[in-house]
Parts: sequence; C-alpha cells; structure tokens
Amino acid sequence: MNYDFTSIIDRSKCGSTKWAGMLKMNPNVGPDVLPMSTADMEFMTAPEIREGLKTYIDTVIQGYTNPTDAYFDAVLGWQKRRHGYEGKKDWIVTTSGVVQAFFTLVNILTEPGDGVIIQQPVYYPFSLAAKMTGRKLVNNALIEKDGTYEMDFADLEEKAKDPKNKVIIFCNPHNPVGKCWSREELEKLVDICIRNDVFIIDDEIHNDLIMPGYTHVALPTISAEASKHCAYLTAPSKTFNLAGMQLSNIFIEDAAIRGKMMIGKLMGMSLSQVAISYEACRLAYDKAEPWLDALIDVVDGNAKYVKRFLQENIPEAKVYPLEGTYLLWVDFRGLGMTHKELEKMNLKADLYLDEGGMFGRAGRGFERFNLAMPRSALEKAMERLLKGWNEVKADWAANGKPEHITLEAGMEMPDFTYDTPFAKGLSFKAETVGKPTVLLFHRYYSCGLCSMALHQLAGEYETVTAAGAQVKVVMQSTPESIFESMGGQNTLPFDIICDPDRVLYERFNVFTADTMFDLPGDNIQAILPMIGSMFSGGEQNSAPTEGAQDQLPSWFAIGADGKLCHVHYGESLFDVPSAKEMVDALK
Ligand SMILES: Cc1ncc(COP(=O)(O)O)c(C=O)c1O
Repeated sequence: MNYDFTSIIDRSKCGSTKWAGMLKMNPNVGPDVLPMSTADMEFMTAPEIREGLKTYIDTVIQGYTNPTDAYFDAVLGWQKRRHGYEGKKDWIVTTSGVVQAFFTLVNILTEPGDGVIIQQPVYYPFSLAAKMTGRKLVNNALIEKDGTYEMDFADLEEKAKDPKNKVIIFCNPHNPVGKCWSREELEKLVDICIRNDVFIIDDEIHNDLIMPGYTHVALPTISAEASKHCAYLTAPSKTFNLAGMQLSNIFIEDAAIRGKMMIGKLMGMSLSQVAISYEACRLAYDKAEPWLDALIDVVDGNAKYVKRFLQENIPEAKVYPLEGTYLLWVDFRGLGMTHKELEKMNLKADLYLDEGGMFGRAGRGFERFNLAMPRSALEKAMERLLKGWNEVKADWAANGKPEHITLEAGMEMPDFTYDTPFAKGLSFKAETVGKPTVLLFHRYYSCGLCSMALHQLAGEYETVTAAGAQVKVVMQSTPESIFESMGGQNTLPFDIICDPDRVLYERFNVFTADTMFDLPGDNIQAILPMIGSMFSGGEQNSAPTEGAQDQLPSWFAIGADGKLCHVHYGESLFDVPSAKEMVDALK
C-alpha cells in the first residue's frame, strides 16, 4: 500500500497538546509551521487502523470491556515477532499510559524518602516520578563521549549499593539521546541491579522505532533473571501515533509485584482501559506493520536530511546518531550562546522544540527535534533555523556579542549602573567601594515568596550592618511599581535594584529554571498546589507577573576589595541565604 507521509494536517482545532503549546507561544503562527516538541507525529494514523476502528464503532456496543484473547494474541505476537520476547498473557497489566505505569510502580516499590535512580539527560517525567511522590531523585548521569553517550557503570554500582535506592527507571531506546543500548551494556546494567536488588522499570515505549542499520535488544530478553527483575513497559502509542488512546501493556513476570500493581491500579484509576483503545492496539499490531516499516524509512530520511543540512550550513551544531525514536538530539553549544539565547533564537524563528535542559541540567544548550513530520515542513523549519542563526551572527557583527559572565569566586565584580525605586543611574562600584556587599537576585516584588524573604532579611538586617556590610537585592520589577507598592517611602533597610529588562540576570547568567517543576528543587511537594492550578487552568486566570515566574534566585558576596568571595547560583526557589550565611560568606 502507498502511505501518505507528505500531507500537512492542521491540528490546531482538535485539541492537540503539542499544537496548543505552540499556539500559546504564537497564536499567529504560519500555516506551514509544525511544532517539533512533544513526542507524537504529524502523520495520520495508519489507514488499516482507521478503517478497522470505523467497523468496530459500527458493530460493537461500547459497554464495559475487557481485553479479548484476540487482543492478547496481537500484543504477544508483536512482542515475539519484533523483539523475540516471549511474554505470557498473565504477565500483562494494561495501564492508561506508560507514565501512569511508572508512577504507580515507584509508589508500590518504594517508600517516601527512598531513592529512584534515573539517567539524565532523560525524559523529564522520570524525575517527576521521583520528586512528586516524595522519593529522592538519584541521578546516574550518562557520560557524553566521542559523539555518543555511555552509561556510567561505576557510578551506578555505587548508587545501587545504597539500600535506600530501590528502583531504576531505565529508558531504551533512550529519549532524548536516541541511543539503543547494546546487549553488553544491558547485561552490565542487569547484573548490577540484580546483585544490589534494584528493580528495573524498563521504559521501552520507543522500542519499535529502530532506524535501519541499528539493533534494539529488549531488556527482558537478556536472560530469565532479567525478565523476572524488571517491569517491561510497552505501548502502541509512539509506534503508531496512538498516544491519545492512552493504552500501554506492562509486562510484569513477578506475581507479587504484579499483584501490587493491580491494587495500585484499583486504588488510583479504573481497572480497565477504554474499549476502543484495545481495538486500536489490536489493529495496529495485527494489521499496520507495513505502515510502521514505511514510517521508519521516512524518519530515517528526515534524520539524514537534518544531519546533512546542519553539517553543510551550521557545522557548529553537533548531531547525535538517531538509532531509535523519532527524536533527534542536537548539541548547539558550539554556537557560543547561552541556552536561553538559543531558545530565544529558535522561538523567533518559529521553531517549537523541546529545550535540552528540560531533560536535566546536562541537556542545556541542546535541542530535541521531533522529526515525525512531512519532509516539506521539516525543510522549511531548517531554513528558518539557518535564517535565525544568520541574523544572530549579523547582530553580533554589528553590535558585538552580548556579554555573559558566569561569576566565580576570586573574580573582580564587574561594574554596572542601575536604578532603584528612589534613585537613578547609580554605579554599583561607587555604591559598594570599600564596603562588603551581597548582591542577591530574587524574582519580583509582588511574588509572595520573595516578599517573605525580603521581610525576613529586613528583620535580620542588623546582623549585616553589625558586620559593616550591605545587601542589594535585584528584582525584575520596575522602579515605578515598587515605588507605588511602598507608598513612595523606602520601607526596607536595603536597596532594590530594578532590572525589568533582565539585563543583569542575562549578563551574569542568573537563569530561569529549565521547567516549572525544577523551581522547588527537591521540595516539589511544596508547590503541588501551584502545579495543580497550572493543570486546572488556574494559570490563565492569574494576574500577569512583573517578570519571569520561573526565575531562580542567586547570590554573590563581594569583599571590600571588590572581589567576589562567594558565588551561589540557586538551584531552587528556596535556595536563599539567611543574613548570617551572607555575613559568614563575606568573612
Ligand atoms: C520514554 C517515554 N516514556 C513515556 C512516554 C509517555 O508515555 P504515555 O503517553 O504512555 O504515558 C514518553 C513520551 O514521550 C516517552 O518518551
């Protein structure tokens, strides 16, 4: 059959999450611009599935429905055919998605306070599964080496030894780095996990999307022990663009763990899935294999095209091999801009990508490109990228490259001019000469947390003055707005430096968080109500803020000689020093 992988399908009105994200950023986006973020595809579902579902709707009553034998045969047949995996029907627990499955597994296999090992950069809900459940995120970071990534087995062994670290969420093929782990690597991982009793939550949602020339090995096929020691997370969703069907098949050989999973399912969600999703999955596995094979060639062609395009036009960008998934990992650090400037350049070029930093701090300066789209739209996207990069270079040539300084202890603090609500054009150097000073970056004046921090500092300020020191707080608010809020009189014993254009934040690399979920650091429980309000639409109703909401604090202690004696780039909203800590840092 001839499949259509070239038509551009408008998804702006069907509720597509990925499109909604793009349209929120730019409601007037052009008709040939497709988002390249969230992992679903800009291709119509395979005709075999569409036709089969029409018949199903016309002939089957949509009552409470269990998976049928035909369903299980399709799932087991697919696993055997494509992966050489011989699972059993009884081992399958269906869930409404893989994310729901690994959240449930973390909940049933660990206690609050236990460690969950993940390998960043990695699909960001892995870290959420640790943090939102009150577990500890334990990062066994991947190592970047010779244009690819490796696992750090020595570090994994150390982390696995800690009895508190009870599970690893493992990704194969790896999203976002696109790597298929070799049999040898899997054997090492399994060996470490079995010896140290770390259960493997094996997310293989992308394992049907293997590019020509590469081999994928499903982890439970490594050995009988491996199969018993893992939950094997599979789904038709990525493979056949059925993510909206919300159905996955989780193979759990261990009966006790499977039993706990069923209880977890019963308590957290309904026991069965949506009737039509079972049929979509059955049709996909039984009928749509030729569509998948054709799709893989299209994705592979797209990856080769992007690699060639970048090599020829932006050789400073480094493309990682796409072995599996349709998500290409590209390192843009060679362009010499910060990850925030990169994001800005891409947004200006109408490129809606996933920023590398969302997969963990090590991903900053990288972009993840979703290549599952018609080539014509991809080519236009790459042309826009090149145009955007040429414009940046032209701007640098005309106006000089913007200065970005990561402050370090021992450096001379650079001078700058600033406004407060009560004075204009002050020189930092002149205002701090001979006087130990802490420069503290917060968010904005109306922020409740910042306001609490400012009042606490005001209450403790005697500790600062007694040490002959001073504090200056940088905020994104305008001088006028703070002047008005204070009723025209400075009610604080220290100055607020107003930086509404974020010049100082940018110049000294005081970045916003990579995602809203990173704002609270390990203490994500503290912002659960805020996350709840984001998901329930509360965000849209709230008043606009006076600056980036996701700004992280930072603080810099500068001695009387004008040199930095302590530098702290904040990791979370709560990463703010007490007056005593500031004074100690100045000593
Ligand atoms: C590694 C990985 N796991 C899980 C998911 C999402 O799974 P689901 O939609 O089944 O919850 C994604 C989606 O991008 C993914 O990349």
